[in-house]
Amino acid sequence: MAPHGEKSDAAEDAMVSGAEKRPVSSVLIVIAMQTEALPVVNKFNLTEVPDSGFPKGVPWVRYHGFYKDLEINLVWPGKDESLGVDCVGTAPASLVTYASIQVLQPDLIINAGTAGGFKGKGACVGDIYLASDVAYHDRRIPIPVFDLYGVGLRLAYTTPSLQKELELKVGKLSTGNSLDMSPQDEASIVANDATVKDMEGAAVAYVADLLKVPAIFVKAVTDIVDGEKPTTEEFMQNLVAVTAALEQAVTKVIDFINGKCLSEL
Ligand code: ADE
Repeated sequence: MAPHGEKSDAAEDAMVSGAEKRPVSSVLIVIAMQTEALPVVNKFNLTEVPDSGFPKGVPWVRYHGFYKDLEINLVWPGKDESLGVDCVGTAPASLVTYASIQVLQPDLIINAGTAGGFKGKGACVGDIYLASDVAYHDRRIPIPVFDLYGVGLRLAYTTPSLQKELELKVGKLSTGNSLDMSPQDEASIVANDATVKDMEGAAVAYVADLLKVPAIFVKAVTDIVDGEKPTTEEFMQNLVAVTAALEQAVTKVIDFINGKCLSEL
């Protein structure tokens, strides 16, 4: 039996399935970079919330608004206080996702952002992927069972109707804290059978799973990891155009979600 004040597994399951049967009302969008976030903020006329409910002094930024029947919160981990660059990577993504769920209790999380794509798996610059599952490629712990913990494989919430209607590409997403790819990372990415590679997805999935909030992953390809061009150059070159494509994809996803229950996605 669950201790007082905690929900039993059965009660929690009943709440989840109850939530699946009523229209989604609150969506949390988690985005790592300002350049990726602002087109979405502008599209939905979201406004920055000065009193975000986050701990005092953190750089995390929350934008809020209503669109059709949905309440939308978009969170961005902000800029590193001393270096002034976006707080990309898994630690800030986990923290901001955790705090946002605690404060906002969303029905659904959308982790949107850019990613590197593998042309050997069919990815092209500008493609939008819906991740089927997410895992880490930089947590190698070669001890039985810890190895699986390190990989941290988690399924995205399944959205077959969304995927079909929007004709999104589907692929596995692999996450690590580096933009480049070491030979060890490459071997793990191949083992993960990934088509796209990012720096936050598996961390968002971990927290969403921990707190039992369904999460989907919308990733726009800025660079081809197994191509000829240096990653940094290709990423910087395509960032603005691809974030415009990302905004359009997120808008279509939001439009599709509006008025639907989780189980209809
Ligand atoms: N985001 C965009 N391109 C990426 C790459 N090649 N690796 C990790 N994250 C990315």
